[in-house]
Amino acid sequence: MIILGFESSCDETGVAAVCTERGLLAHALHTQIAMHQEYGGVVPELASRDHIRRVVPLTRQVLGQAGLALADIGAIAYTAGPGLAGALLVGASVAQSLAWSLDLPAIPIHHLEGHLLSPLLADPCPEFPFVALLVSGGHTQLMRVDGVGRYQLLGETLDDAAGEAFDKSAKLLGLGYPGGPALSRLAQQGDVTRFDLPRPMLHSGDLDFSFSGLKTAVLTRVKAAERQPGGLDEQTRADLSAATQAAIVDVLIGKSVKALKLTGLKRLVVAGGVGANSLLRSKLAQALKPLTAQAYFPPLELCTDNGAMIAFAAAERVKHGLATLEKGNHAFTVRPRWDLADICEA
Ligand code: KG4
Ligand code: ZN
Repeated sequence: MIILGFESSCDETGVAAVCTERGLLAHALHTQIAMHQEYGGVVPELASRDHIRRVVPLTRQVLGQAGLALADIGAIAYTAGPGLAGALLVGASVAQSLAWSLDLPAIPIHHLEGHLLSPLLADPCPEFPFVALLVSGGHTQLMRVDGVGRYQLLGETLDDAAGEAFDKSAKLLGLGYPGGPALSRLAQQGDVTRFDLPRPMLHSGDLDFSFSGLKTAVLTRVKAAERQPGGLDEQTRADLSAATQAAIVDVLIGKSVKALKLTGLKRLVVAGGVGANSLLRSKLAQALKPLTAQAYFPPLELCTDNGAMIAFAAAERVKHGLATLEKGNHAFTVRPRWDLADICEA
């Protein structure tokens, strides 16, 4: 079965076609980063309007790339939450209208399940069970994944998400939005030893995270630098970027290693936008060596939000009999707040 999937939960419009037998056929993405940049963050109303503008051309692009006609599609998937209500509504209403007009089933997908399963799109892909580190702009969670729909929360952030820590620190350093890529680029020119930033909850004994204190620590260093004669100069910003990135990465790695030890599992899957961070990728590979464990990442282009992970999650649900393939009922809602535990089978 071929599934057409739509992602519109935040600032990326993603469309993709995935076949339950042949995998990813085509995907197309439009990122709104440039549009939101001048506001220093996502403006929800602008995001919704832009999704409306992009979704049909992207759909045509995907169908064209995959050589598909609408008649080839067997089901329509869309992100039903969590995310921005207005933005979610665009993808949901387009998907449901298309499903209605083609008399196809529509499959609502949890955005985090999309991220969680996206490393299965990579080659080599991990086998179940594995530990998943989900690190995005809104979420930081460690999960035990025993199969499709079988997710157990091991730990999560008590306050800011890892991506949020990158974004907020970057803002304090006068870097653009989104902060993660900008901060990690500047960190390459920085001296990581100059500032010693805290590693919050690294030794807390559990698998929870806390990143809000880190942001405060960065703010303190920024204010101190501004009081110096040279002010917050370029080198200081680079050094602080390097220190911030190192602190976040250390905590993510420390907790992931602990999760592997506690579960006895040997596979760690990293998903979500922060999974694109190159320091995290390289340091994790080193940290897992002594455990004879292996890290798996989605292809780089599928780390941040995209339609492929949504169509793929729907395909996996269909394959495992976890999707309702009912036709004709197109009443729908979106869930801006939606706990992943709500969709777990066990
Ligand atoms: O998964 P995602 O695209 O959207 C959400 O569902 O939140 O993640 C976006 C987050 C942002 O906080 C962004 O700064 C961060 O991922 N990010 C990065 C990098 N690329 C994206 N953080 C650190 N290093 C990167 N290279
Ligand atoms: Zn995401």
